[in-house]
Order: sequence, then structure tokens, then C-alpha cells
Amino acid sequence: MGFIFCLVLSTFLWQFEALETPSGKELEPLTRELLESARKPEFFEWMIGVRRKIHEYPEVGFEEDKTSELIRTELDSLGITHKWPVAKTGVVATIGSGVKPVFSLRADMDGLPIRELVEWEHKSKVDGKMHACGHDSHVAMVLGAAKLLQAKRDELKGTIKLVFQPGEEGYAGAYHMLQDGALDDIDAIFALHVLPAYPTGVLSSRPGAMTSGAGRFSATIQGKGGHAALPHLNRDPILAASFAIVALQQIVSRETDPFEARVVTVGFVEGGKVGNVIPDSVRFGGTFRSLTNEGLPLLQKRIKEVIEMQAAVHQCTATLDFLEDVALPYPVLSNDEALYEHAKKVGETLVGAGNVQLHPKITGAEDFSFFSLKTKAVMFGLGIRNETLKSNQVLHSPYFFLDESALPIGAAFHAAVAVSYLDSHFVAQ
Ligand SMILES: *[C@@H]1O[C@H](CO)[C@@H](O)[C@H](O)[C@H]1NC(C)=O
Repeated sequence: MGFIFCLVLSTFLWQFEALETPSGKELEPLTRELLESARKPEFFEWMIGVRRKIHEYPEVGFEEDKTSELIRTELDSLGITHKWPVAKTGVVATIGSGVKPVFSLRADMDGLPIRELVEWEHKSKVDGKMHACGHDSHVAMVLGAAKLLQAKRDELKGTIKLVFQPGEEGYAGAYHMLQDGALDDIDAIFALHVLPAYPTGVLSSRPGAMTSGAGRFSATIQGKGGHAALPHLNRDPILAASFAIVALQQIVSRETDPFEARVVTVGFVEGGKVGNVIPDSVRFGGTFRSLTNEGLPLLQKRIKEVIEMQAAVHQCTATLDFLEDVALPYPVLSNDEALYEHAKKVGETLVGAGNVQLHPKITGAEDFSFFSLKTKAVMFGLGIRNETLKSNQVLHSPYFFLDESALPIGAAFHAAVAVSYLDSHFVAQ
């Protein structure tokens, strides 16, 4: 009876719970095959060709029309069905059986309002815009994975959705993709981000919180302007703003647990024009960040209180704008622990255990975090640093440069994580 109960229970668990992540030995033929395919000269040339075309015509958030069109053309020629538009320029492509589980791979499509200063054959042809965060390569790698997966479509034990999203750089594109409902059925999602901090081909991530939640604020302190010689007849907003900016520093240093990571930074101050006039108002603003989702509303509340009360001390008034209609605050990116372990095992098999590193927590933000609120999610970094190529410049630098030899590794990693996820999570019908 006990035995039968166990048998029934284990059958039940087998159907509804994740199976074990396969061992490195089981994964090895898959990762080797995928990497060999992605490194074939024809495949590699095609992938870097796609990346260079996107690099030459960067488009900023929610304007990715050309990029989106290029993606759809490539998907069409691979024979992959897709849905468009999702969140204006976004594309969601589907490969596989159409049944559960549904595993998703994500690429962001937008460039930045930065003028490229690297002189090379495929330099940006759009003045003032540049792919300085590697999103061109993210698209190329997910298209590379699409090609690898399409070749295996009859063996897939479930469905893979490829998500090409707009507006990662401050526009919360991921949030808008979710709002459009095209991802309601996904069970887990994976993304890669190229990182110049690591040598080419090195992978890195961490379980749990990886990037911060982040919000913006803008404050206006209203006083009463007048002649600088008669301060007693005026209400000086410059002094009020100065006190407020100093007081804001204490939210982190005096009110935050030293073991919690939070940031409050004032990035601009605008007020006054000449030395002998007290202006009517001063505007300033900045960013606040936290590595816990609870931290963000606490910071927001205190930023408002501190600025309003410091204004009142100086007989001024303050109005606060958290700019949520322009730039939705980004939540913390929290990597699912089991999915992290799964992808780490795949990565170790692909590039060797010594080339998979633990990524530190960072106070940068990433809108992939919206997916991590909705479903099991994990993001890995992919090293692109090569001193000879000068691909060691930080993200968002006008000198940012990419070592394209990382692309086949990225394509194979995406595809291997997806295939092995379906293999270990499929539900016997
Ligand atoms: C860096 O790039 C150069 C030029 O492509 C290549 O010859 C070299 O092997 C690369 N170095 C590493 C460490 O990958």
C-alpha cells in the first residue's frame, strides 16, 4: 500500500513538477552540436550581417520600425510564424509544438541617443543615435537561436516563444509587452546581456536580486524672487533647494540598514540666471534605487517628505513629480533560483565551468525585471571584452565596441537553455 502510494505520488509529481536539470554529461552533445552549428562560417556571417545592419540604423525606444521589419523578414525566411505588432514595434515568434511548457527567449531592440565615436566600417549612419548597449547583438543572437531551434522544431518537447521587445532604455518596453497579453502563457523566460566587464565568452549571473529597482524624481521649489540685496523681502528657493539636496543624502546614510543597497542621487539643478537676483523657483531631480522591491516606495515617500519639509522650513513650497507617466519605475530583477541553476549548468557545459562566474549585484536597472515579476526569469551576462579589439569600453559609452565572436556562443546558449528546459519540464500527455 505504501509502495503503491509512493508510486502514485511520484507519477503525480513527475507530471506536475519540474524534473531534475540534466547533468553536464547529458547536456554535452546538445551544447556541442548547437555551438558547432552557430560557428559554421555561413551561419556566423549571416548572424553578424544581421547585427551590423541593425547597428548601422539604430532606433530609440518605440521607434524600432526598421529593426522590427528586419526581424520579421528574417523570421519569414526561416519559416517561423510571428505576431506583430505587440507593444507597437514588438514581435513575438513561436517555434515548436504549440503545447506547454512554453519557454521564452527575449531580445531588446532599441538603441540610445548617443553619437557613435568608433570609426569602423559599420558605424552608425544615424547621427546622434547608437547601439551602445549591445541590443543589436541581442537581436542577432536570438535570431541565431531561432535558426538553431527551427532546425530542431520536430524534436522540441513544447513551445518556444521569441520575444523582441521595444524600449528597454527607460521606456519600460517589457511592461508594455506584458500589457499586450502576448506572453500570458509563458512558463519561464531567459535573456542574455553582453557585458564588456568579462572576457569574450565568459558567462555570469547570480540567483535572486541582480539589478536594482529604479525610479526618477523631479522637484520644483517655489519661492518668491526679487533683488539679491533684499533677501528679507523674498523667499529664497536656492537656499531651500540646497538644504533639501543635503538632507536627501541622509535617507541612505541614516535611515537605511547598512546591509541594504540603496541610492539617492540628484543629477541636475536648474535655478537662477544672474548673481544679483533671487529667482522665483528652482528645479532639481535625480534617481533612486533599491535592491529590494520594498525599498523603492520607502525611498519615494521619504524623498517627497524631505523636499516638501525642507521647502517649508525656508517658507517655500515644493511639488514633486515621480515621472511615472513618462518613465515607469523599474522593479528589481530577481533571477529565479532553479532557473538560474538550470542555465548555469547549461552554460558550464557550453563554455566550461571555469568560464561561468557569479555576477555581483548592481545598482544599474534593466527592464527584463518586469518579466521576473510575472514569471520565472533569469538573465545572464555574456562577456565581450577583447583588448585587441578595444571591446572593453563600458555600456553606453560612445566608444562601445563589440567582439562579434561572442555571438555564436550567445545563440547556442539561448537555444541550449530552451531545448533542455523543455526536455526537463515536458508533461507527458
Ligand atoms: C581578440 O581578438 C583578436 C582579433 O579578432 C583575436 O585574434 C584574438 O584571438 C582575440 N583574443 C581573445 C583572447 O579572444
